[in-house]
Amino acid sequence: MTEKGIPLAVPDVGEEEIDEIRKVMSTGFLTEGATTKEFEQSVADYLGVKHAIAVTSCTTGLHTIFEGLDIKDQEVIIPDYTYPATAEAVILAGGKPVLVDVDIDSMNMSESILESAYDENMKVFSPVSWAGVPLEGGLYEKAKKLGLVCVEDAACSLGAKLNNESVGKIADYSCFSFHPRKVITTGEGGMITTDNGEMAKKFYEFKHFGARGASFETVGTNYKLSNVLAAIGVIQMKKIENIISDRISKAKIYDELLEKIDNVKPAYKMDNARQTYQTYACYVEKEGLRDKIREKLAERKIQSQIGTYSLHLEPGYENLKRVGDLQNSEKLFRNALSLPLHKNLTLEDQEQVCNIIKETVQ
Ligand SMILES: Cc1ncc(COP(=O)(O)O)c(C=O)c1O
Repeated sequence: MTEKGIPLAVPDVGEEEIDEIRKVMSTGFLTEGATTKEFEQSVADYLGVKHAIAVTSCTTGLHTIFEGLDIKDQEVIIPDYTYPATAEAVILAGGKPVLVDVDIDSMNMSESILESAYDENMKVFSPVSWAGVPLEGGLYEKAKKLGLVCVEDAACSLGAKLNNESVGKIADYSCFSFHPRKVITTGEGGMITTDNGEMAKKFYEFKHFGARGASFETVGTNYKLSNVLAAIGVIQMKKIENIISDRISKAKIYDELLEKIDNVKPAYKMDNARQTYQTYACYVEKEGLRDKIREKLAERKIQSQIGTYSLHLEPGYENLKRVGDLQNSEKLFRNALSLPLHKNLTLEDQEQVCNIIKETVQ
C-alpha cells in the first residue's frame, strides 16, 4: 500500500531457509562443504549441465573463468550497457575489455554488433543476458563461426531459456549471481556452469587457493561459498520455478497496463524464450521523463531504479577501448526504468505504479 511504500525487490526467503541454516550450524562445519556440494548439484541438475562451481559472487566467478582461460593482455568484447562487474572481472584477470553497443530493444549484445567489433586476434567475448532476457541464438552461432569462446555474464538469468535450452548450458562458460536482487539469493554468492570438465577442475582449484589435493600447484585465491550461504541456496532452488512463474505473471500485468500509456514501451518480449524478469525494465521514449517518473514514484514511497550503466560514462571505465558510438547504451542509461517486482507486489500496487507513470508522461 502507498503509506507503507512499495520496495523494488523483496527476496523470497523465510522459515525454510532459516531451518536449513540451523541444520548447517548444528554440524559445526561452516565453511564450504557438503551443503555447498548439494547446492552445486541442484543447479547442475536444474540446468542439465555437467559442472556447477559455487563461488562468492558472480563477479568472482567471472574472474575465476577468465583466470582459467588465461586472458592476460587479450581484448575481450563486452557490452557497454551492463553493471561494472562485467568489465571488472576481465580487468582483474589482466584482460582488456572492448566496449560495444547493445540492441535498443533487447538491451543485449546482438549478432551484428559482435561481428562489427570482432578482430581476428580476439579469442574470448563476454555477453550479458541482462534483466533475465536470453541472448539471441544467432549471437552464439556467430561466436562459434568466429572461433570465439563465450563467457556469458548470466548474473540475472538463472531459469531463463532459449528454445527450451537453459541459459547456463548454451555458452561455453556461464556465471550466475545470487545477490538479493537476483532470481534466487544466498545473500551474496555466484555459480559457474560449464560442460567442460577440465576447465571446471581449474576453476575449482583457483577458488580453492590453487590447491590440487595437498599440493598448491598454482596461485589461486579464496572464493569458496560457505555451507551457511549454500543452505539458503538449497531451499531457494526448490522454490525457483514458483518464483519465476510469479514474476512472469506480474510482468504480464505490467505489459498490459503500460501498453495503454503513450511514450512508454513495456519490457522487451523475446520469441521462443522464457525470460525470468529478474528486472522489469520498461523504456521511457521521451527524453528527460524517466527521472521525473522516478521522482513522482519516490514521493509516494515507491522504489524504482534505472536500468543499468553505460560503462564508458563512468569515470573508472571512460578510457576503455570502444567500438562505435554506443548510442543505444547511452539512451538506455538515460531512459530505461526498472519497476518494483516481487512476491508481495499486488495488482493494486502495479496499477498505482502505472497510474503515476501515466500522470507523469501525459
Ligand atoms: C550483469 C551483471 N553482472 C554481474 C553482476 C555482479 O553480480 P555479483 O553481485 O553477484 O557479483 C551484476 C550485479 O548486479 C550484474 O547485473
